[in-house]
Amino acid sequence: MNINVINFRIYSFPELPMNDQLLFYVRDLFIAGTETTSTTLRWALLCLLHYPQTQQKIREEINEVIGSSGIVHMSHKPDMHYTSAFIHELMRFRTFVPLGLFHKTNEEADLNGYTIPKDVMVVTNLWALHNDPNVWEEPDQFRPERFLDTDEKFVLSNQVIPFSLGSRRCMGEQLAKMEVFIFLVSMVQKFEILPDPEAEKLPEINEGINGTAFAPYPYRIVAKEL
Ligand code: HEM
Repeated sequence: MNINVINFRIYSFPELPMNDQLLFYVRDLFIAGTETTSTTLRWALLCLLHYPQTQQKIREEINEVIGSSGIVHMSHKPDMHYTSAFIHELMRFRTFVPLGLFHKTNEEADLNGYTIPKDVMVVTNLWALHNDPNVWEEPDQFRPERFLDTDEKFVLSNQVIPFSLGSRRCMGEQLAKMEVFIFLVSMVQKFEILPDPEAEKLPEINEGINGTAFAPYPYRIVAKEL
């Protein structure tokens, strides 16, 4: 069977036999669970290259909390305020799924005084939320410090919703958060991330490839072992 010809969302095809449905569930998880975190990490590395001081600050925090040879664990995260702020800002600044996944209303709904009719497509513009100048000061600037209080402690914002909200929010949110934290910290702990001097100029931070997902243009790095 050629699985590529069928729509990504298996639940639109309840008439399919159970085994096919299972196959598609596995495929959904595979697709949604790989490109997402790897692309987020590609944005993270590009931010580290464009803002080298952030790399330095993350490394200092790693050395303080974990040490240069310790093994990173999720239990370290609450003590890693700058790194948490960096990841939070990364997910705001480079909203990976800018328009969420499209949904359809099952019934007429009322939202803040607006009537949304039954059977219409609803698109959540996560990008607009993350770049709203009424909420964010200079939203087009990458600034992890916006999520640090005066004591340099991380303050989570409920206005950052890269995984969307509600009962159909991202199923892999917790896994994705763990993967991004563990991989980012492990890389910065062991390597200095530098632009490849032999490669063409780095892509600009505010440009990317737009589709369902927002990805950076390809670039090359040198990972110098520390
Ligand atoms: C940084 C990484 C990720 C981001 C930013 C992200 C973001 C999103 C967003 C915005 C949605 C749409 C929610 C909605 O329909 O309102 C979604 C759906 C989904 N994500 Fe993720 N995701 C990430 C990683 C993952 C991972 C690692 C997995 C699985 C292992 C995963 C599995 C899914 C699934 C199955 C859905 C569909 C949920 C449903 O329709 O009920 N995602 N994701």
